[in-house]
Amino acid sequence: MLNIIICGAPGCGKGTQSDLIVEKYMLKHLSTGDLLRAEIANQSELGIEAESYISKGNLVPDKMIFDILSKAIEEQTKNNKGIILDGFPRNVEQAEALETLMAKLNKETTLLVDLKVDNDELINRLLKRGETSGRSDDNLQTIKKRLEVYECKTAPVSDFYKIKNKYAAINGMGTIEEIFGRISTAIDTKTKK
Ligand code: AP5
Ligand code: MG
Repeated sequence: MLNIIICGAPGCGKGTQSDLIVEKYMLKHLSTGDLLRAEIANQSELGIEAESYISKGNLVPDKMIFDILSKAIEEQTKNNKGIILDGFPRNVEQAEALETLMAKLNKETTLLVDLKVDNDELINRLLKRGETSGRSDDNLQTIKKRLEVYECKTAPVSDFYKIKNKYAAINGMGTIEEIFGRISTAIDTKTKK
């Protein structure tokens, strides 16, 4: 059973590559960003609170994330269906909480795929998407803040999985197909061991 984490800076292609990974490896895509945006679209209490963090480029509180995610992870893994976690864990505390939950469920994280993309390319991709996305965080000021938060809070999650020997850095520059090829190779290599 495959349980993949896809990680990397804002705009690195987590969502784009998740769609391809889901299709090839038949996993359930769990994106915390998408779950939060669904709450915002519904104008739920949680969504309204989350939007106040997201529009400023900050992380939403950990508890809010666990509340919307842990049940979904539990349900999927209970049915022995693999998952791809997109946008989670986003700090070391979330990584620790994920591993505690997985241990409780008697499951394991297979691999963290870390997409590496140059900052200029990230900004270009997000500004382009911002022309049509309607996302309150796809503007230059918020993008810069998201990149800072990524460096400070999310990048250390890589070390957490490197130590566990469950880490693959992937060149995230190039065409979507090229990048997907690299990711597939990393997953297949890990699961053959
Ligand atoms: P989230 O939704 O996770 O956003 P993000 O990490 O900022 O990343 P994006 O979704 O913007 O980009 P992506 O990596 O998915 O790239 P994509 O495939 O779309 O989180 C949003 C916010 O929610 C956070 O800031 C935070 O506030 C909150 N949040 C979420 N999870 C949280 C958590 N766990 N804890 C606390 N807070 C949390 O690609 C980007 C663009 O580039 C697209 O237009 C795409 O078409 C294009 N593109 C993709 N690949 C290529 C390529 N190879 N070449 C050219 N263009 C490409
Ligand atoms: Mg995304």
